[in-house]
Amino acid sequence: MKNILFASSEAVPFIKTGGLADVVGSLPRYFDKKEYDVRIIIPKYACMADEFTKQMKLVCHFFVNLNWRKQYVGIYETKHKGITYYLVDNEFYFGGPSPYDKIYEDVEKFAYFSKAVLEALPYIDFVPDVIHCNDWQTGLIPVFHKVMYGSDEYYRNIKTVFSIHNMKFQGRWKINEIADITGLPRHVFNLRELESYGEANYLKGGVVYADAVTTVSPTYARDIMTPEGGEGLHGLMSARRDVLFGILNGLDYNEYNPKIDEYIKYHFEMSDLAGKKRNKEYFQEQAGLKVSDDTMLIGIVSRMTDQKGFDLVAYVIDEILETMDVQFAVLGTGETRYENMFHHIQSLHPDKVSSYIGYSEQKAHQIYASCDAFLMPSLFEPCGLSQLISMRYGTLPIVRETGGLKDTVMPFNEYENIGNGFSFEKYNAHDMLHVIHYAYNVFKDNRKAWNDMIERAMSMDYSWDASARKYEELYKTLEDKVI
Ligand code: ADP
Ligand code: GLC
Repeated sequence: MKNILFASSEAVPFIKTGGLADVVGSLPRYFDKKEYDVRIIIPKYACMADEFTKQMKLVCHFFVNLNWRKQYVGIYETKHKGITYYLVDNEFYFGGPSPYDKIYEDVEKFAYFSKAVLEALPYIDFVPDVIHCNDWQTGLIPVFHKVMYGSDEYYRNIKTVFSIHNMKFQGRWKINEIADITGLPRHVFNLRELESYGEANYLKGGVVYADAVTTVSPTYARDIMTPEGGEGLHGLMSARRDVLFGILNGLDYNEYNPKIDEYIKYHFEMSDLAGKKRNKEYFQEQAGLKVSDDTMLIGIVSRMTDQKGFDLVAYVIDEILETMDVQFAVLGTGETRYENMFHHIQSLHPDKVSSYIGYSEQKAHQIYASCDAFLMPSLFEPCGLSQLISMRYGTLPIVRETGGLKDTVMPFNEYENIGNGFSFEKYNAHDMLHVIHYAYNVFKDNRKAWNDMIERAMSMDYSWDASARKYEELYKTLEDKVI
């Protein structure tokens, strides 16, 4: 039996701000249970829902040294869908209204978390063969492990994997302060290890010190080795190419299943799409939009950041609304300028745009289930789960060909009647407009082709089965590796 410990700053159902939570909360359930004991460790945030926290049991507590600081660590335990979760409790660090706040607070919070994860192992009596770290918040785990615990018998055989879900966020801050927070020796803050552009960089630390590095799609693995996609670290990523693997994210097909989804009003499946049509009508009615099956309903469910391509949307949305019989169902929260844009557009076209600024799991599922198309024109996209969820619900994605969007959405080819969505290549508003127009024409004039495409999208298999096997293979290659 191999022991794997996933360390992350979020995991469903306990806490979620984006796709990272979906991945960490689902992938561990898809390993071969006869061979793998996979557990998860995350912070115990005060903002977690009571329904979860009240089921957690305190299993131990101790103090961890963060340089001159001595900080309390409580380890809680709970089980969810057969998986053991450990939760690191400290109200000073995790007492805020959301998981992330100012970067100068977060760098200390996640240095603490990373040290606490390593120190917790003897207390919970779980010696992992692999600690699988996720994103910059856990980047210091491989660093602490090698620099501070490497000679300790208990820790010596543990391997670390570092998964990059987003290169944009690296956890960068002043070297002096990070040295003071972490107690790491000064010599690690050099260009070949933790320093980048004059600052300490947690993501870089993870990439340099982990035994293997993964990212969440094959195309993004290539993108981050280029100056355009590497967010300043493309040289490092190229240097690590021998241990860098692009493994496509999967989707939890039980959680996202239009046949049984508790969040949607009418259930449906590929062989009977009547429920999908009724969801659309219901959505239009509730949102005060014209109820019409002939009007193309386009969904957007997204963090509202520049990553997601909203600058393109801002540029042409008026033209789209004025020239096509379409409606928009928008759900998201993030940067004020984008939130305001959707408010404004809704006030101009209340009969065509329904936008909800906020976070709602229920509304998200309703949009995926009700819409005809889903718009995701990302500037970059490490993998993207929203397009996978859309396809699962028979909603055709319209995406830009980048990262995981390129790996999962095959553009419609009308001559051969193949494809499961629509795509454009250049980050250009008129190219996007053009492809939305093309999708619109297919929807309006060639419903047979549209419906065939729904069938192809719904029969794609983006479940975790294939990708979980790839992680298993990766763990196996680490077994005999002497570092
Ligand atoms: P990212 O992780 O970059 O945000 P992904 O496509 O990988 O993008 O995952 C986004 C996840 O978060 C999906 O499950 C999506 O449905 C969900 N999501 C995003 N914004 C919201 C929101 N406002 N309300 C509910 N779910 C949301
Ligand atoms: C990140 C990426 C997204 C990816 C998700 C899960 O948030 O932006 O593309 O799907 O992580 O890996």
